[in-house]
Amino acid sequence: MIGALFPLAKPVLHALDPETAHHLTIRGLSLMPVPAAPKDDERLAVDAFGRGFPNPVGLAAGFDKQCEVPDQLLSLGFGFVELGGVVPKPQAGNPRPRLFRLTQDEAVINRFGLNSDGLDAARRRLSRRRDRPGIVGVNIGANKDSADRIADYVACVRGLCGLTDFLTINVSSPNTPGLRDLQGEAFLDDLLARCIDARELADEGRRRTTILLKIAPDISLETLDAIVATALKRGIDGLTVSNTTVARPDALKEKALAGETGGLSGRPLFRPSTRLLAQAFQRVERRIPLIGVGGVDSAETAWAKIRAGASLIQLYSAMIYKGPGLIGEIKRGLLEKLQAEKMSLPQATGRDAPDIAEGRF
Ligand SMILES: Cc1cc2nc3c(=O)[nH]c(=O)nc-3n(C[C@H](O)[C@H](O)[C@H](O)COP(=O)(O)O)c2cc1C
Repeated sequence: MIGALFPLAKPVLHALDPETAHHLTIRGLSLMPVPAAPKDDERLAVDAFGRGFPNPVGLAAGFDKQCEVPDQLLSLGFGFVELGGVVPKPQAGNPRPRLFRLTQDEAVINRFGLNSDGLDAARRRLSRRRDRPGIVGVNIGANKDSADRIADYVACVRGLCGLTDFLTINVSSPNTPGLRDLQGEAFLDDLLARCIDARELADEGRRRTTILLKIAPDISLETLDAIVATALKRGIDGLTVSNTTVARPDALKEKALAGETGGLSGRPLFRPSTRLLAQAFQRVERRIPLIGVGGVDSAETAWAKIRAGASLIQLYSAMIYKGPGLIGEIKRGLLEKLQAEKMSLPQATGRDAPDIAEGRF
């Protein structure tokens, strides 16, 4: 139903300031009754992290930052939903405006700076849905003014284990000064070790909470080598590739908006993030699953992520331009691809990684 309403709502939403439009969307979803999620074709099911995902198409972090509407989002047909980013103490983020639509590029620039109602609010909201079906995770970060950033991640792990299926350690948001430095080897090793230890304690006697690491697209292959080695050494369950980019491709049409500070997402992020995904796949060698995110806006781009090495995919920016009907479109398109190529999703995963890693796609 929401999918059918989007073509009517889009001109109104796009006439508004993007952040106001987003608040209205969340409000609209919060008022919606929560129908059961549509039943997916069994060929779309994915087993990853010891969990059964009904389909591989997930919602990326940043859409439902305050953990308000996970079940409404699942009911749109997503196979899983990532909420947040959540940080321990409430923080306002950067001043507005901080969200920009680059319409001609089907892209977005944001510099929210992890605006968050904080960990207690996230815990309260997630407690209310504790026994509901559907795979829900939370993206976690550090407060801007934190004196001990690693302690912030640990606090989020402690506070959210048991309330969520997975946690994503976000060291890749470009909008909190210094956050990306946590991708450096020594810091990352300490961060991941302490998060994994915190999970072991917090999960005791409960089903294990999956811990993922989300990386930036703007890294060298040497940094990628180190991140993969550290993640594997510390027992991280999977990598999410990637967050938004600070790069500004020359081809961007919206020249004035392209000058805004922040992370760029959507269509222009597709190629760099998919190439990095394939490069990560080559290094991980199927030891842990990868989640491919960045510029997914069609069945073709979703299929390319899978061929690059993604077991699961996520999207955000394309929802702004195409609305929730896109989720069903991608799922139908993926089924057609599987049928045409006579293969299963696991067989397709990483099939073209060598070519894509070299930029041949
Ligand atoms: C407005 C906005 C807010 C975001 N907030 C977060 C966040 O809090 N944590 C995070 O890890 N990624 C965040 N992201 C990044 C997305 O999760 C995703 O990695 C990125 O947008 C690329 O996917 P897309 O091209 O499909 O949008 C945000 C993206 C946007 C557009």
